Amino acid sequence: MIKKSCENFVFSYAPGKAILVGEHAVVYGAQAIAVPLDLGVRVAILPLDANGPIIKGIGSFCPSEALVWSIEQGPANIKLALQYLIENFGEKIKKIAILVDGSLPKGFGLGSSAAFSVALMRAIFNYFSISINNQMLIEHISALETIFHGAPSGIDHTVVLNSQVLGFKKKKSQSLSWPIYCKRPLKLVVGLVGPHEGTKNAVQKLRDRKRQHEKIYERIFGSLDELAIAMETSLKEGSLGAVGEFMNMAHGYLSALGVSTGELDHLCAIAKERGALGAKLTGAGGGGAVIALAENNEMEIMTAFRACGFISFTTSVVNKVDEHL
Ligand code: MEV
Repeated sequence: MIKKSCENFVFSYAPGKAILVGEHAVVYGAQAIAVPLDLGVRVAILPLDANGPIIKGIGSFCPSEALVWSIEQGPANIKLALQYLIENFGEKIKKIAILVDGSLPKGFGLGSSAAFSVALMRAIFNYFSISINNQMLIEHISALETIFHGAPSGIDHTVVLNSQVLGFKKKKSQSLSWPIYCKRPLKLVVGLVGPHEGTKNAVQKLRDRKRQHEKIYERIFGSLDELAIAMETSLKEGSLGAVGEFMNMAHGYLSALGVSTGELDHLCAIAKERGALGAKLTGAGGGGAVIALAENNEMEIMTAFRACGFISFTTSVVNKVDEHL
């Protein structure tokens, strides 16, 4: 089906993300801070002989399944995404195969859907030689993320698209993001507890809980907003002890909001026992991943996570060299 020898193919790559503070609260207007990861998603587009489009997951992106999705077959949101592409780019979309690979585990709150959306849209524009501006790109990526996540704040695809440490705030339908220059690199240890229940579900369930006790939830979101503002200052000053302390507090608030689990709490406790400066769940929660901020002890923390049976890896967040010139 996929043409074997074709000169016409393109590759695109986008990184994953982790949220240092402010997930969930950002949906209600609080400030959040997100970082790009040095793991990501790669998309290749190739011509297709048969009628498509198809999406084929390969390599480490889906090691255990022979994943081939199309308009007829696959999860509902993937079918909708393919339909969206046909509606917006026309019949030519039916003549492509989209191969997805990458180092980023999918479904763990590390931005795999945002990375996929960003890499896919860049690849499509490139493959069909469509000239784009940033605004067009953002509109299509937001539309795909809305299909995948319901009503996302936009923080995931914004950090993935910009690939730098960002402050982010959403006000009604507008959002504001700005680069944060971190004085010191951040060494993070990621621990995976298992695929999460899905961002859309987690956000909806929290919305339902909030409806019962509006004021109490608003206060927690307000506290997370204050934490994000304080963390931004600490990142700029290179006060990693304070960054870690704020991460611990953020995890406490996320537990209070009901999005943590016993396993996520357990991993945070292990990280702190092993000397992490701070640890928290990242992303929508209800499973997913924990990030721990290390201070030259990342191997020890990673080994401790692995010893308890959790997949773990290290990643570092470094500012781009020219970012602060
Ligand atoms: C998911 O990575 C972050 C959430 O705050 C949802 C969103 O902001 O769209 C849980």
